[in-house]
Amino acid sequence: MITVDNLNFSYTRKPFIESMNFAVKPGEIFGFLGPSGAGKSTVQKILTGLIPTYKGSVVVNQTEAKKRNSDFYEHVGVDFEVPSLFEKLTGRENLRYFASLYRHSLPIEPLLESVGLANEADKKVMDYSKGMKSRLNFIKALLHAPSLLFLDEPTSGLDPSNARVMKDLILQQRKSGTTIVLTTHNMYDATELCDRVAFIVDGTLCALDTPRNLIMSRGAATITYSYRENAQECQGTSVLAETANDSCLQRVLQENRLLSIHSSEPTLNDIFSELTGRKLQ
Ligand SMILES: Nc1ncnc2c1ncn2[C@@H]1O[C@H](COP(=O)(O)OP(=O)(O)O)[C@@H](O)[C@H]1O
Ligand SMILES: [Mg+2]
Repeated sequence: MITVDNLNFSYTRKPFIESMNFAVKPGEIFGFLGPSGAGKSTVQKILTGLIPTYKGSVVVNQTEAKKRNSDFYEHVGVDFEVPSLFEKLTGRENLRYFASLYRHSLPIEPLLESVGLANEADKKVMDYSKGMKSRLNFIKALLHAPSLLFLDEPTSGLDPSNARVMKDLILQQRKSGTTIVLTTHNMYDATELCDRVAFIVDGTLCALDTPRNLIMSRGAATITYSYRENAQECQGTSVLAETANDSCLQRVLQENRLLSIHSSEPTLNDIFSELTGRKLQ
C-alpha cells in the first residue's frame, strides 16, 4: 500500500530524515512510536502529500506522494492531531460540507451513530467536548470510505473512556479492510492496535516489527516471587528461562514456602529505551 525508498527530508539546512525505508502492507495497522519531536507527524505529512519537498521515493496507493492530485484524496483519509472543524457549524453541517468535497461519500447518519453523536449532531461544534470533537474529526476522515487512513496521535489527550471508544473504532476500521497508518507516543496503544510498529527517534527508524517480536526479541521475561523466611516475607527475582538455576527459588518451592509468584515481560517502553537510549515520554 505504501513503499518508502531512500526518503530524505530537512526543514532546515541540517538533514532531518536520512535514507528512510519502510513499506506498509494492505490491511495492516502500521504504527510510528516515538517521543515528541521524533518526526512522526513529519513522516505522516510526507505520506499524505502535504510536504512535497522530500527526496527519494514515497509511493502511496500507487501514487508518488509529491505528485498527488485531488484524485489521491478520494482514497486517503486523514485525521490530524488537532481537530480541524468549523466551530460555528454543527456536527452535521461540518460533515455535509466535507462530504461535498468528495466524488462519493457515505451516508452521514450511520457515521454519526457509529460514534454516539447522532443526538448531538445539531449542536455547534464549539459546544462539543474534546472527546466529541475527536470522534467527529475521526468520522470526517471516513466520509469517503478511504482505503487508506492516516491517524496522528488518535488517542492523545482523551480520557480513558473516550480513548477506548477511539481504539475500538480504529480496530473496527481494520476489520473492514482499511489500511491504517497511525502515530503515537503511547506504548500501550501501539501494543494493542498495531500489527507492526516502527520506532522513530530524531527522524530515524530504529526498529520495525510486530509488537510481540519486538518484545520477545529483546530483554528476557522475568519472574518475581515472595517467600517465607524466618517468619518474614522475602522477595526474589529470576529470569523466566533460567528458573532451574535459581537455588533460592528451588529451595522455597521444595519447602512449600512460596507466598506469591508473578511473571512479567518487558514492555515496548523497555525495548524502546534499550534500542534507542531514549524514553517515550
Ligand atoms: N514546519 C516546521 N519547520 C521547522 N521545523 C519543524 C517544523 N515542523 C516540525 N519541525 C521540527 O521537526 C521535528 C519533528 O517534528 P514532528 O514531526 O512534529 O514530531 P512528532 O510528531 O514526532 O512530535 C521537531 O524537532 C520539530 O520541531
Ligand atoms: Mg506529532
